[in-house]
Amino acid sequence: MAQFVINGGKKLKGEIRVSGAKNAALKAFAAALLTKEPVLIKNVPEVEDVSRMAELIKTLGPKVEHIRRGEYRVTADKLNSSEIEPEIGKKLRASIVLTAPILIRTGKVVFPHPGGCVIGERPIDVFIDGFKALGANVSQENGLYNITARKLKGAKIVFHNVSVTGTETMMMSAVTAEGVTTLKNCACEPEIESLAQFLNSCGADIKGAGTHTIIVSGVKSLGGGTYRTIPDRIEAGTFAILAAATKSNILIKNCEPEHLDSLWNVLRKAGVRLNIGKNQVEVIPSGLKTVNVKTHEYPGFPTDLQSPVCVLLTQAEGQGLVHETIYEGRLLWTEELKRMGANVLMHDPHRISIQGPTKLRSRNIESPDLRAGMAYLIAVLCAKGKSVINNVYQIDRGYEKIEERLRKIGADIKRI
Ligand code: EPU
Repeated sequence: MAQFVINGGKKLKGEIRVSGAKNAALKAFAAALLTKEPVLIKNVPEVEDVSRMAELIKTLGPKVEHIRRGEYRVTADKLNSSEIEPEIGKKLRASIVLTAPILIRTGKVVFPHPGGCVIGERPIDVFIDGFKALGANVSQENGLYNITARKLKGAKIVFHNVSVTGTETMMMSAVTAEGVTTLKNCACEPEIESLAQFLNSCGADIKGAGTHTIIVSGVKSLGGGTYRTIPDRIEAGTFAILAAATKSNILIKNCEPEHLDSLWNVLRKAGVRLNIGKNQVEVIPSGLKTVNVKTHEYPGFPTDLQSPVCVLLTQAEGQGLVHETIYEGRLLWTEELKRMGANVLMHDPHRISIQGPTKLRSRNIESPDLRAGMAYLIAVLCAKGKSVINNVYQIDRGYEKIEERLRKIGADIKRI
């Protein structure tokens, strides 16, 4: 198992480029199975979750060609399996979005409960209720879900919970359903709007993506096309927080600052100076004061940036409250942050207080999941001395060659 060895406590400086968004690219791979024609997907981050998705799609019959770095062609002229390979499906939450094209193309889909549970329960009732509303039959056997439908029929679906992958899956399911589907209480994340634009470019008729109500008028079939993955807002935000926490001057290039307005608010309140351009953000070293942060669905503060921002608060003056509203297990990682010297008080599974500033101590840490792993990386870059992060597969799931990119801005980090 690879490890990162880091010598922290140094200021960083320079430019860092943001990759394509993992959580947008993964959905484009799934959407490519809605058509028999080739789909070219560009600006794809070369991360482990993308490799798992490509592997999973190949087991279903379609061809996935890795044309060059960041570019893939998916040709799903054949889709001859209805079963999401359980071992991969269980590891990858995004595998659930494959249920839509598989069901539409084969009339059936069999799949495991997707994704790990280190950040919380992650139920799938939104999907099950949605498929039923579109006329599918749902059953469960031997720990696998079994959904069948000869032809999906348009319906009105009011999601009882705002779900990103739920919205994406139902939007895809409705694209070729008979009649009109109205989706209410939808998630509004930029990745959803981007997916809808791509599907429309292939012949779909989707209106309202990016708002809470999406209307999909069913079409007969979709053609092929090209999808260019939008910049990863979570990666851009992570780099901005890293710069602020280590008091470094970093220029974050190739991002979409508009997707991160809630983060800029928080950082400015914390005293961080920012130069925000059209596709770039410069973070200028500044004194830090604490701030309260509450995660919320887009355009609120992203839950995926909760762990990095906690590290930032350990470096800021005063006591800040972090309220994680989306996942009940996503603050547990702070136990390890405490062992690094952070002054963290857990009030309940959703709320912690962080009193800063504290000097973080270097440490040998296990990366529990993607975002917490990245937060540890920021923490050990703040801490003077040698630290080791184990299980870096978790970080590789979502951040492409992170050590190489961090080295370019002066970090002392090695993969061994
Ligand atoms: N929820 C339900 N029922 C469902 C689905 C979700 O109650 O059927 C609840 C969840 O328990 C949670 C809330 O709704 O409390 C939101 O979960 P959501 O379904 O939106 O999360 P997701 O679609 O599984 C995506 C990202 C996550 C990101 C969340 C929230 C992908 C592949 N994953 O997950 O990304 O945290 O949205 O923004 O798009 C990551 O990249 O590290 C990551 C975890």
